[in-house]
Amino acid sequence: MPIYVTRPSMPELNDFMEEIRPIFERRVLTNMGPVYKKFQQMLIEYLEVPELSLFTNGHLALELGIQAVGLKKQGVAVGGGEVITTPFTFVSTTHAISRNNLKPVFCDIRLEDYCMDPDRIEELITDKTVAIVPVHVYGNICDVRKIQKIADKHGLKVIYDGAHAFGEKFDGESIGNFGDATMFSFHATKVFNSIEGGAMAFHDKRYGIPLHELKNFGIHGEVEISAIGGNAKLDEFRAAMGICNLRRMTACIEARRAVHEQYFERLQNVEGIRLCPVQEKVTSNYAYLPIYVDREAFGKSRDDLYATLREHGIYTRKYFYPAINELECYADFQKQATPVAHDAAIHILTLPIYEGLARDEIDRICDIILQK
Ligand SMILES: Cc1ncc(COP(=O)(O)O)c(C=O)c1O
Repeated sequence: MPIYVTRPSMPELNDFMEEIRPIFERRVLTNMGPVYKKFQQMLIEYLEVPELSLFTNGHLALELGIQAVGLKKQGVAVGGGEVITTPFTFVSTTHAISRNNLKPVFCDIRLEDYCMDPDRIEELITDKTVAIVPVHVYGNICDVRKIQKIADKHGLKVIYDGAHAFGEKFDGESIGNFGDATMFSFHATKVFNSIEGGAMAFHDKRYGIPLHELKNFGIHGEVEISAIGGNAKLDEFRAAMGICNLRRMTACIEARRAVHEQYFERLQNVEGIRLCPVQEKVTSNYAYLPIYVDREAFGKSRDDLYATLREHGIYTRKYFYPAINELECYADFQKQATPVAHDAAIHILTLPIYEGLARDEIDRICDIILQK
């Protein structure tokens, strides 16, 4: 049986059937119906955030979220601003910025956690900078306090891509409460899924109506359109899936923790392989298992290891290769050198981690890694 980098967590079929039965009876399938509202409230409680808006996926939550926050600045035309972000992420982050006609400015990362290096932000700030969009990569938490200090000093908004950080805490505080807003992805491959889905968490109530309307064509009233919106509504069936999976989150994260622990037992003292430990003060969700493969010390490159595992039916991923500022579609933005992100992109492999990955499967993966 092939082993993939992830496998979606799913509820018992009967639990899902129970949850969707009323939808059949009610015939309200979408447009922010009662299941949507119930799911939204459950998430507000689970994530310990004051406000949250649901979307059909994380990408549109971020794209429309950036629009809703309204990144305006005196002297800078709407859509003419610059946004400092990371090149070491999934393309969605940068696309969400670019599709708002904003210019991504790439800040290098730190090798210890692969998140934006806060000490490199200020040198990138110009009179056109309107926001910082950092990413909690692999569920590692950015230096939220330092980033906020810089943002406050320069009057910038901070919108986090927290696609990997569902349910995490920093110093006891929900990760959704930092910055102006935080996006979470509920894609099938994520720690928590509603098949497809996403959310924007925020605390400034002023963002509520724009977020709500932008995901529904900008509709304000029956005959009133407030803004040029899109369609990014989460339907009732996927909200029902989210409700079922949310009930299982504690067990799901505990199962991932055990997988994480076993990998660490097997690989933490291997020369040439660097694991990424849970950061201090962070309550982790164990979203990913990145290993940094040092070819000289390990005797094999990241790409060779990827190929060997593949021959054995183990499908790891090279998240995030290539770095975004090395992509052809961002050719205009390649001037900024980000050597640490480049280094990470060519050395990291993410190993399978999911609820239900058996102990003997993890041992088999580690045995293959360790046979030179
Ligand atoms: C870092 C990051 N940002 C954004 C997204 C987009 O989320 P979604 O797939 O829910 O649209 C993903 C995952 O797909 C991601 O990994």
